[in-house]
Amino acid sequence: MLLLALGAALLLAGGGRCLARRLLFLLPRRARRALPAEGKAVLITGCDKGFGHALAKRLHAKGFTVFAGCLLMDENGDGARELKNMKSDRMKVLQMDVCSDQEVAQAVDFVKRTLKEPEEGLWGLVNNAGISTFGEVEFSSLNDYKKVAEINLWGTVRVTKAFLPLIRRAKGRVVNITSMLGRMASPSRSCYCISKFGVAAFSDCLRQEMYRWGVRVILVEPSNFVAATGILTADSIDKQADALWRGASDTVQEDYGREYFTRHVALMKSFINSGLKDMSLVLNDITDALTSPSPNNRYNPMETYWWVRLQVVTHLPTAIADWLYIPGAAL
Ligand SMILES: NC(=O)c1ccc[n+]([C@@H]2O[C@H](COP(=O)([O-])OP(=O)(O)OC[C@H]3O[C@@H](n4cnc5c(N)ncnc54)[C@H](OP(=O)(O)O)[C@@H]3O)[C@@H](O)[C@H]2O)c1
Repeated sequence: MLLLALGAALLLAGGGRCLARRLLFLLPRRARRALPAEGKAVLITGCDKGFGHALAKRLHAKGFTVFAGCLLMDENGDGARELKNMKSDRMKVLQMDVCSDQEVAQAVDFVKRTLKEPEEGLWGLVNNAGISTFGEVEFSSLNDYKKVAEINLWGTVRVTKAFLPLIRRAKGRVVNITSMLGRMASPSRSCYCISKFGVAAFSDCLRQEMYRWGVRVILVEPSNFVAATGILTADSIDKQADALWRGASDTVQEDYGREYFTRHVALMKSFINSGLKDMSLVLNDITDALTSPSPNNRYNPMETYWWVRLQVVTHLPTAIADWLYIPGAAL
């Protein structure tokens, strides 16, 4: 009965793409005038493709100076080349592997040298670079966990620490792109979830530390936009599946069985064309995080289904949430 009432209340409150956005107290914030972009600079990581690439263009069009960190600039990657070809003074493309201390330090130097008023600092940092993986715990190697965390988690920590002095100077914004899987665990996504839960914890601590400096630390937690970006492809899933199966012990292979594993891989492949195909919800939220005079601490660009599920999973006892959503779980 309690569950039904909660479900009905959540659904009644919905009817739109994001219930959170419809909660009364958020509306006046949205209505407030956005801060001007002119004269403000933002650094974004992972601009070769996906959200980062689109965001670089969006913020540039809004009038920001954009420092677009690209993993493949030195290799003349398509995304970096396209941004460079805009030939705009306000679009600065730089080589930046978030796993490299040296490249991150060079990026800080470049930003300092390039900013018109370096002593006024950098307005925004968007930690976007990331990779996605799958594989149940018994198939995932310790190296798989470390590899994802190296980019998604330690990359975010490394870049944030390097740019914080400049962000503090500007009393600016740190925007970290996590995921709904940074608050809601999912079978076969433990490597990714650990990395994104880690970024969420890091961001929460940093947010609390930064209030006194006038810096806002904001989390953007998208749902599934796989169809809109290049984060998962059939090819990358095949490669990962091959490595997972070959890396599993004889016992795991025998107990789980090839048929189960193949079905599981097919399920992952079905996600490639699933989710939202238009990334504007994510771009709108990141833009709001950077331009609103009073941004939210968290943004949830997602369909109503995922928003309701996120509320259930994060607010109800785990036994109930598992029973509702995880096959095999019983109350
Ligand atoms: N798409 C979704 O459904 C979704 C949902 C929730 C959260 N997210 C998060 O959103 C962020 C962007 O994802 P996306 O979907 O736009 O993925 P994407 O299209 O694959 O873009 C990610 C970008 O990060 C870059 N990158 C990878 N490793 C890097 C490194 N070590 N240093 C610097 N850049 C690196 C990639 O470079 P290459 O082009 O060379 O690979 C790529 O340009 C990620 O943090 C992801 O976890 C995505």
